[in-house]
Order: sequence, then C-alpha cells, then structure tokens
Amino acid sequence: MTIIHSYASAADRLIPRYEAISIEAWLKPVLPFVPAGKSRILDLGAGTGNIGAWFVERGASVLAVEPVQEFRDAGKELHPSADLTWLDDQLPDLSQTLAQNETFDLVLLSGVWHHLTADERKIAMPGIRRLTADGGRLILSLRHGPGVPDRPAYPVPPEETMTLAEAHDFRLIHRTTASSLQEENKAAGVSWTWVVFDASSS
Ligand SMILES: C[S@@+](CC[C@H](N)C(=O)[O-])C[C@H]1O[C@@H](n2cnc3c(N)ncnc32)[C@H](O)[C@@H]1O
Repeated sequence: MTIIHSYASAADRLIPRYEAISIEAWLKPVLPFVPAGKSRILDLGAGTGNIGAWFVERGASVLAVEPVQEFRDAGKELHPSADLTWLDDQLPDLSQTLAQNETFDLVLLSGVWHHLTADERKIAMPGIRRLTADGGRLILSLRHGPGVPDRPAYPVPPEETMTLAEAHDFRLIHRTTASSLQEENKAAGVSWTWVVFDASSS
C-alpha cells in the first residue's frame, strides 16, 4: 500500500484528529516567522486544510496541495473559503503546482517531509525553491520517531535538510525542537524539529 492509499483508508479516523489540533499551539515554535496578514501561502501536504484555514482567518490566501481526495473533500466542506483553494498534486514532482507559474511568500511543509525518501527530497527541493518568492520563506517540520504501519516515516536528519535547502539558495534563519501534540504520537516517542529558511533574493 502506498502512503497516499494508507492515508486515504485511515481518513475517517484522521480527519477529526487533525481538526482537533490547536494550530496556534502547533505553530508556536515558528509563530514569529510566519507572515502576518495579507500574504500568499502554499501548504504542501495540507491534510484537511486546518492550517490553511487558520492563515486565511488572518488575512492570507492559501493554495492547499493535497493528494488524498478524502482530505481535500473534508477540507472543502469544513473550511469553505474563496481564499483557500485546493490542488490534487504530490511531492516530489509537484508538476501541477509548478504548472501554475506562481510564487509564494510562504511555502509550508507541516508533517510531510518524512514521507519522502532522501532521494525524493533531493528531487523536490529545486521545485520548492521555484515556488518560493525571492525574499520569501520556507518552513518545514521534520518528524522524528517511528511511523505507523503502512505509512513509513523515513529518517530526516535536520542537517540533511539544511544542506539540501542551502544548496538551493535558502538560508536557515531558525531551528528549534518540539514534542508531539498528539498523545498517541507522544507516547510512541515522536518529536519534531522545525526549520525556517529565507529564500535569497540575489
Ligand atoms: C501528517 S499529515 C499532515 C497534514 C497537515 N500538513 C498538518 O500538519 O496537519 C501528512 C500529509 O501529507 C500528505 N502527503 C503524504 N505524502 C505526500 C506527498 N508525496 N506529496 C504531498 N503530500 C503528501 C498526506 O496525504 C497528509 O495529508
């Protein structure tokens, strides 16, 4: 079973779990680094769009990219807004997203990067840079700890992501750690590293 199929088959259970998360608490480690007010945000692996909706409430407009139809459908129903739009696409190629020919003030990968192998991350990073406006920002949360059956969590050493991002004109401006907010994950020993990069304008 692919990771995408695994998410689709667990969607009924996962949707309420995602929606119960306090976005303010989840983003707390990076809150000083997210754009305030009117900005254009790309949320890659957006789940139900709960984070995107939080940004929309604060004046942003968000393109939510999510390959699992069940999550997209739930997101459209739970967070209807003209400022939260949806695209069926996936990492590492992001072919549909790149075809929009748009750049974003913030590109967010929350809880997604560990689903790519190290080789897939190398394929993804140049596209992520193309999607980030010069002077824009990239924020990723890197998951450490065991995955769940059918949904592998590949190791994501922060240094690997930092080296890869810096090779594509991103500059690290913040790195911090956080424990899991979900009790089930916390009990399983899951923790997170957040990394924040600026996209150089030169
Ligand atoms: C742990 S959930 C995180 C959802 C949301 N970003 C959040 O932080 O609540 C991981 C999400 O990544 C998506 N995903 C998994 N593999 C992906 C890929 N290759 N490309 C894009 N999204 C992917 C899943 O469908 C799921 O919505």
